[in-house]
Amino acid sequence: MGSVLWIYFPLIMMLNSCKSPQNMVNYSSDQRGLKDFYQSYFSIGVALGMKDLAGNAVPLIKKQFNSITAENAMKMASLQPREGVFYWKEADSIINFAQRNGIKVRGHNLCWHEQAPDWLFKDHEGKEVTKTVLLQRLKTHITAVVSRYKGKIYAWDVVNEAIDDDPKEYLRKSKWFQICGEEFIVKAFEYAHEADPDAKLFYNDYNTERPEKRERIYKLLKSLKDKGVPIDGIGLQAHWSVQEPGEDELRTAIESYSSLGLNIQLTELDISIYPWEKNKRARRPGESDVFTPELEKAQRDKYAMVFKIFRQYKNVITNVTFWNISDRYSWLDNYPVAGRKNYPLLFDGHFQPKKAYQEVINFKD
Ligand code: GLA
Repeated sequence: MGSVLWIYFPLIMMLNSCKSPQNMVNYSSDQRGLKDFYQSYFSIGVALGMKDLAGNAVPLIKKQFNSITAENAMKMASLQPREGVFYWKEADSIINFAQRNGIKVRGHNLCWHEQAPDWLFKDHEGKEVTKTVLLQRLKTHITAVVSRYKGKIYAWDVVNEAIDDDPKEYLRKSKWFQICGEEFIVKAFEYAHEADPDAKLFYNDYNTERPEKRERIYKLLKSLKDKGVPIDGIGLQAHWSVQEPGEDELRTAIESYSSLGLNIQLTELDISIYPWEKNKRARRPGESDVFTPELEKAQRDKYAMVFKIFRQYKNVITNVTFWNISDRYSWLDNYPVAGRKNYPLLFDGHFQPKKAYQEVINFKD
């Protein structure tokens, strides 16, 4: 047995080395991370919370990323849960961590229909407030938050997800829209720009590559540009799946938005192993959540394709941010299907790079 191994071992090693691309990186000895491989393209970010900064993901964060986004800590309900009562602790820790480590911060977000506290929309008697009052509250919030982090946050998602889910509708019938009409969008950008004229201001949304939604978003962005609203870019959330977007859809979206003179950031990238779904539902009997070799391959191919396109459009893409660090935890575990695990990121549950990681860093262009 021993001598048989002696004969076959060099052969096996040789075959194995043939399988690996020449520039295959040995992860543990290579000091470079995503941010280094993409240094001449765009910054690479990750969304995280305070608990991540106290945990064992810190070396991975520092090695891989040069931009961070607060997963929840800078949303309206987190920062101002009651009128005039601001809770800065978690957001401040994220900023401090970034500053200590020379990492940039994207602010997320200033105005959204979700995770917005109820008090915003009601007066002391519980009645709906007027447009004047709501816009004043929006201004107070945006001014407080953007001024506090002036010079420390280089870009803000100003308005998140204002387009309706129904393709036949235009703007979402949120409380913001019901009380203020379209104007809340314009005002949010103006207030943010007044508070920090140097911050880059983004409109952020999902399914931005689906043709019908792309057209509605284009219409909104064009109307903002035509009105002279201070908007610098669009955030494509990029909550994608192994099925979508297709290469052409992604290219068309990038070209269409950038034709308005806007920068593009991929703000919340993950590639789910399941088809895109939004409405919460129970897990179906027999519904598997195994990360099969076929799904792994489909995910690798999708990551390779989207990063190839990102590189090709580096003149308009200024950042790519992943939504969460590794498959150990992602918001897509349990969402929208309770009890179902997902594997959407480049690092596995042990913080090790997946094969998809190799696809992203091994490029020749
Ligand atoms: C949207 C929001 C994010 C986050 C994700 C889910 O994409 O923009 O802030 O809440 O949903 O985690």
